Amino acid sequence: MLSRIAKVAGIFSEALRDAVLFLRFNSYSPFVDRSKRAFYKIIIEAHTIEKGLSLQQPRLLFGKDKVRFVMAALSRYDIGYSPVPAHMSLGALEAYLNYHAQAGASDPLLDEIRAYLKQWEARLPKPWKGGTREYSFNGQAAGDLQHLIASRSSVRTLRNAPIDPDRIVEAISLAQQAPSQCNRQATRVHTYQDPARIRELLALQGGSRGFAESVGNLFVVSSDICAWGGPGQRNQAYVDGALFAMCLLLACRSMGWGACPLNLAIDHRTESAIRRAGGIPDGERLILMIAFGEPSAPDTRVAFSPRRPPAEIATLHA
Ligand SMILES: Cc1cc2nc3c(=O)[nH]c(=O)nc-3n(C[C@H](O)[C@H](O)[C@H](O)COP(=O)(O)O)c2cc1C
Repeated sequence: MLSRIAKVAGIFSEALRDAVLFLRFNSYSPFVDRSKRAFYKIIIEAHTIEKGLSLQQPRLLFGKDKVRFVMAALSRYDIGYSPVPAHMSLGALEAYLNYHAQAGASDPLLDEIRAYLKQWEARLPKPWKGGTREYSFNGQAAGDLQHLIASRSSVRTLRNAPIDPDRIVEAISLAQQAPSQCNRQATRVHTYQDPARIRELLALQGGSRGFAESVGNLFVVSSDICAWGGPGQRNQAYVDGALFAMCLLLACRSMGWGACPLNLAIDHRTESAIRRAGGIPDGERLILMIAFGEPSAPDTRVAFSPRRPPAEIATLHA
């Protein structure tokens, strides 16, 4: 009985600490760096323009307020922090102009945009990576994609040799194809190859008992809390973070590595200890760890982990 009461009390106290952490680092917090907050705000608003342009039939002169907001916010933004919001905004504004030129539309807003883009050409040379791009469903064999997904398994028989950092960046860059809310890309990946540090991190995690010694490469996936703001977004770090982690697991598989996700179902005390041991900033929420490496042998053994029949989890609504 006492232990149940302790569990309930623990849930409340952890929830309170969740709220304090979120308040301290969320996108409305005055304690967070201004450029970082502007980075996310501009990306989110520029995305509404590129998204509008990606619809079947964009409404002429849609989102006038957004367009003006993006131009004003970008003018105040320090592109030394990251040029990505500028690329996204300028590319979207240019595509907005092109779309309206093709439609033969005219409006003072379009003249404003044209003049605005002219000023920016000297500051950020073209091509601007933003707007819309062509996409084709041809080109990839469906079987290859299905094989990649079906062939992933949690592998706990790894070689503990460190993997070439360039190849790790390649895998991370593939995983960046993960979708993220409004393309804000708040997920962070911390990579460790130092055996002592890996041991320390795995000891705090606790779920790699029996194979920790074989782990020579470790990711900690986290999310920048500042990308999220307001009560409705309090858990979105986990949504985007988990989608990214899934792509990273598939990327590891595509590189021919074994990988095993490791839960971070932990309290704030352990989360802080992992942040300290891993040199991870306080404003990042930890999502999960991934142990990875070359497989110990091309043919190995994994847990069966059978799946439920799809009918048990799927409801086809009329
Ligand atoms: C969020 C998450 C946390 C996990 N944590 C651990 C862990 O701590 N230790 C472990 O050995 N496996 C862990 N796993 C692996 C699961 O046991 C495994 O994904 C599941 O049994 C399905 O098997 P499969 O990955 O081989 O398809 C974790 C998986 C997920 C998605």
